[in-house]
Amino acid sequence: MARPGKKSNEPTPKLSWKDFKKSVYIFRFVKPYKWHFIIGMILLSVSSLVFMAFPGAAGEMANVANKQPKYPQLNLKVLDFAWIFAAIVIIQGLFSYLKTILFARVSEKGMADVRSAVFHKMIRQEMSYFEQFRVGELTSRLTADIEKLQAAFSVTLGEFLRQIVILVSGIAILVYFDPKLSLIMLMTFPIIVVLAMVFGSKIRKLSRKRQEKIASANTIVDEVFQAFTTVKAYANEWYEETRYAKSLQEIVKISLRFAHFKGLFFIFMTVFLFGGIFFVLIQGALLVDRGEMQVGDLFSFIIYTGIIGSAIAGLGSLYTEIAGAVGATERISEILQRETEIADTPPNEAEKVRFSGAIEWQNVHFTYPKRPDMEVLKGISFQVRSGEKIALAGQSGSGKSTIMSLLLRFYEPDSGNIYIDGKDAKEYNLTAYRQNFAIVPQDVVLFGGSIQENIAYGLPDATKEQIIEAAKQANAWDFINSFPEGLETIVGDRGTRLSGGQRQRIAIARAILKDPAILLLDEATSSLDAESERVVQEALDRLMENRTSIIIAHRLATIKNVDRIYVIDSGEVIESGTHQELSQKEGGTYNALAKLQFG
Ligand SMILES: Nc1ncnc2c1ncn2[C@@H]1O[C@H](COP(=O)(O)OP(=O)(O)OP(=O)(O)O)[C@@H](O)[C@H]1O
Ligand SMILES: [Mg+2]
Repeated sequence: MARPGKKSNEPTPKLSWKDFKKSVYIFRFVKPYKWHFIIGMILLSVSSLVFMAFPGAAGEMANVANKQPKYPQLNLKVLDFAWIFAAIVIIQGLFSYLKTILFARVSEKGMADVRSAVFHKMIRQEMSYFEQFRVGELTSRLTADIEKLQAAFSVTLGEFLRQIVILVSGIAILVYFDPKLSLIMLMTFPIIVVLAMVFGSKIRKLSRKRQEKIASANTIVDEVFQAFTTVKAYANEWYEETRYAKSLQEIVKISLRFAHFKGLFFIFMTVFLFGGIFFVLIQGALLVDRGEMQVGDLFSFIIYTGIIGSAIAGLGSLYTEIAGAVGATERISEILQRETEIADTPPNEAEKVRFSGAIEWQNVHFTYPKRPDMEVLKGISFQVRSGEKIALAGQSGSGKSTIMSLLLRFYEPDSGNIYIDGKDAKEYNLTAYRQNFAIVPQDVVLFGGSIQENIAYGLPDATKEQIIEAAKQANAWDFINSFPEGLETIVGDRGTRLSGGQRQRIAIARAILKDPAILLLDEATSSLDAESERVVQEALDRLMENRTSIIIAHRLATIKNVDRIYVIDSGEVIESGTHQELSQKEGGTYNALAKLQFG
């Protein structure tokens, strides 16, 4: 359960031009909704501007009440301001409503598209991609990261624009009102901006680390719930508890540092912001005292200064949120820009094939990408003619399942060639290629739905009759029929509500339904009792008729009748021949095995 060495090649995050360009990539998903977004942004800007009229109007009202109107030509009475305020409030409300709806469209629809696109890319990655990450890390790309983006499009970007509009228009108004006083106020600016930048990058780094820790804590939970029988059987609840608690501790540690920096940031902002505001206030009061400014104008000035101050403070935290979203976007774009599995395009008519099923391996060497110093296959060669049944026998860990993985093109050989029907496997369209195979794997994991759905996985548009027929042929129909809900029986998470043998028969039914050109059976009858094995073997014999089959079995009785047996040892073929031939070879590995099993 060690953490794989992920992220070692990921650069530490900075808001660089390159990251920014990567993030901009996401905008293509918003493009279909760009008018929603643009109109929303316009509404937001207008409503912010209307809002900015409020302090000016309030100040002028005070001036009117004080019998010193700034604009006497308008001839406004105090009560007229009630209408102005009402108009401001109504426009504000209406525009916010519209903007919220428009942004929701962009963020919900756009992000659903991003989610689909990320999922599309992820499930089309090659095998080693999935070995590299733990489940929780992959899912958090689809959940936590995309939620951040969603927040960015529904709230953060809009808020950011609003604060900018408020800031710019506020400063413009103030400069118009009183250039001298504004200058004093603006001098506190650069300090705040620099601080915001410094803190922002630190906070962003911590936020990213925190996200990673949360993902790895979630992985523990995922794993425990997936393997809860093992946890319980070993009474290792305490162990998992400790593991989880430790992981939570790390989150707390990072979060506290995160909070520490946020707090410090807040202190600095408050000191400089309020310090600035108070300073400006006193200067203003002095101006009024000297009769150089009207009371109403000071009133407006104070409110504007307050609004601008809170806009700056808001920008600080919005900046960290946006930086967080940029971080999430980076990770998402990285996935979106990944190559998918070799030539993963749906096959065109010419590329579709139905194999006759002749297989030839020539001196195939293979090393798992995640375990580079251990060669698993050391020059495997064998041949299967169309319609033949062959078996792979050999010790655990000798490389039998690996041979099947390579046949399915989960991995590519390091050297050597695999030919199917005389053509290099690499030259077929991958999807078309795999459509010719069905595998009953060593460890059958079912999908959480019904038995029917699980069988139909072999042929998604199968009719109910076809499904029942396949179940009958797999000798699964009797037990399915004995369940009160029959085919509709829910198999539980990953099939846990079925016995191992029942799961295997569902997998066989699935393979039967697919009607593949090449059938791969990896210990397909290993979890069956002798009687069930006999019936299932019958089913398999039927299934293997007229198609190329490769069978892995530890129990030699199941492979007695195949055309040829290849004995694999440490990644090499050490013997081959029929059961008869191999059993008679004195001193042979198979011979020794057969003596053990048949007595
Ligand atoms: N995904 C993987 N990454 C790295 N090494 C692997 C991977 N899968 C298998 N191996 C290693 O490759 C070797 C061959 O494994 P393989 O599963 O092919 O054995 P096998 O012959 O099918 O054994 P068994 O009879 O127990 O099923 C083993 O040493 C195993 O540890
Ligand atoms: Mg195996």
